[in-house]
Amino acid sequence: MNTQRLTAAQTEQAAEILRRGGLLGIPTETVYGLGANGLNSEAVAHIFEAKGRPQDNPLILHIPTADWLERYCADIPAAAYALAERFWPGPMTMILKRKPIVPDAVTAGLDTVGMRCPAHPVCRAIIAAADLPVAAPSGNTSGRPSPTNMADMLEDMDGKIDGIVDGGPCAVGVESTIIDLTEQPPRLLRPGGITLEELEEVLGEVAVDPAVTRLMGAGEQPKAPGMKYRHYAPKAPVTVVRGAPADAARYIRRHLTDGEGVICFNEFVPLFEGHPVEPIGPKDDVAEQARRVFDALRYFDGTDVTHIWAQCPDPAGIGLAVSNRLNKAAGFHIVDAT
Ligand code: TXA
Ligand code: MG
Repeated sequence: MNTQRLTAAQTEQAAEILRRGGLLGIPTETVYGLGANGLNSEAVAHIFEAKGRPQDNPLILHIPTADWLERYCADIPAAAYALAERFWPGPMTMILKRKPIVPDAVTAGLDTVGMRCPAHPVCRAIIAAADLPVAAPSGNTSGRPSPTNMADMLEDMDGKIDGIVDGGPCAVGVESTIIDLTEQPPRLLRPGGITLEELEEVLGEVAVDPAVTRLMGAGEQPKAPGMKYRHYAPKAPVTVVRGAPADAARYIRRHLTDGEGVICFNEFVPLFEGHPVEPIGPKDDVAEQARRVFDALRYFDGTDVTHIWAQCPDPAGIGLAVSNRLNKAAGFHIVDAT
């Protein structure tokens, strides 16, 4: 299939692709998504085919405003409206009980559904024009790092989708925060663009799903089915080095051998001369690190490095999301610098 390139101004053509049951690459503020009409099971099935996504991994429904929640969700708690008021439109997904109108194809048969109201103006214009809830996972081939610009998404999806809209590079760079409101206390299933600290300001106590910070054991099930898969992973194995930035950089310098690559903070690039290096931003600019992390992981797939060493920010603020993505890319293979 010929994948049509659309500009940000061609929202009507983009909406038409969704209305007729096609697959559309959509920019959002977090990452690019692979969208389809969320009420059309057949269109949704094509998302799983294009990504090679496991059938048991449910999709998020994207809506234009919080008042669409009632159409698709049941027993909505007051906390959902409080979160929507504070963080929507924006990088936060809520897990709520679903209504029967939501196809099983979207929820993978669960009795809950993930709901998100995105902030990217182009994304919002497309959803409004289509007048549909849009089911959309990240626009990568399953297991690869999420795409944060149109070129990265085309690398995985050119020829497999009907169209893609260029909305520029993503402002957040990591996916939405997923908060499960069907449990008490609410549970953080995936850290993302809205921080745990911000959620706690609205919700009080928030439980953190163990899958956020460690590898799941053989018998364990994370609450978000997607968190159990090896993810975001480049072809070469990754080792995350934890510790103060200068210590971690020195540790990597000492252990680095020929043919190995490095993901590091900008300040330490000169230490690794002669090796493929991807800087992810200044050590104190974690928002920039979030924007760069997926591109850095993706970069190494175009090289023949045998191993990747990565520096990692502290797990505070959006650093929790950045460290989660790096740790997952490493299969939680983490060493301490000291
Ligand atoms: O920022 C984002 O959320 C992006 C953009 C495109 O909106 N989307 C995204 O979708 O990251 P995806 O499919 O790559 O990740 C969705 C995650 C998966 O881990 C999935 O298992 C989980 O959300 N999920 C979806 N519905 C769920 C549900 N009902 N219960 C628990 N987890 C759910
Ligand atoms: Mg994804």
